[in-house]
Amino acid sequence: MSPGFGFAFFLAATLALLGLVVLTGFRAQRKRHIALVVLAIASLGITIRFAVLLGRSFDLHAAGSITPIHLALSKVATALYLLPIATGIRTIFRPAAKKWHKRAAFLVLGMTVLTAITGTLMLWLAPRVR
Ligand code: HEM
Repeated sequence: MSPGFGFAFFLAATLALLGLVVLTGFRAQRKRHIALVVLAIASLGITIRFAVLLGRSFDLHAAGSITPIHLALSKVATALYLLPIATGIRTIFRPAAKKWHKRAAFLVLGMTVLTAITGTLMLWLAPRVR
């Protein structure tokens, strides 16, 4: 699988899975929700791996200031995934935590979208080297 195709395929799969995570969360389908979270995070991991491979075909530094912005955002967004995981586990034992779980979930989803936008912009501005 070429890095370009792999990246596009798994990015689309991750976004679709995250959509289903939100849907099952709102429908209180807990077992499905948690299984989909596991799949979404695995798919995100594969997407990141393909993104790194794809990045090797571009001169990312030549894209300018968008590159450090995207790289910082991507690290923060990845680390923030711990928040819905922690608050989700807490919600199982303490239902009142659901309010915080929802906030954490939408923070992470927003950061994921921002990371995808800046990453696309970075690749668009970077010259291809091979
Ligand atoms: C990226 C990760 C996740 C996202 C985006 C997400 C999203 C959501 C959303 C939008 C809701 C609905 C909140 C509401 O009704 O106000 C929800 C509910 C819930 N989530 Fe998550 N979630 C994630 C991870 C997890 C994890 C890792 C767990 C547990 C291991 C978990 C457990 C729950 C539980 C127990 C509920 C409440 C369901 C109910 O109302 O009975 N979530 N989640």
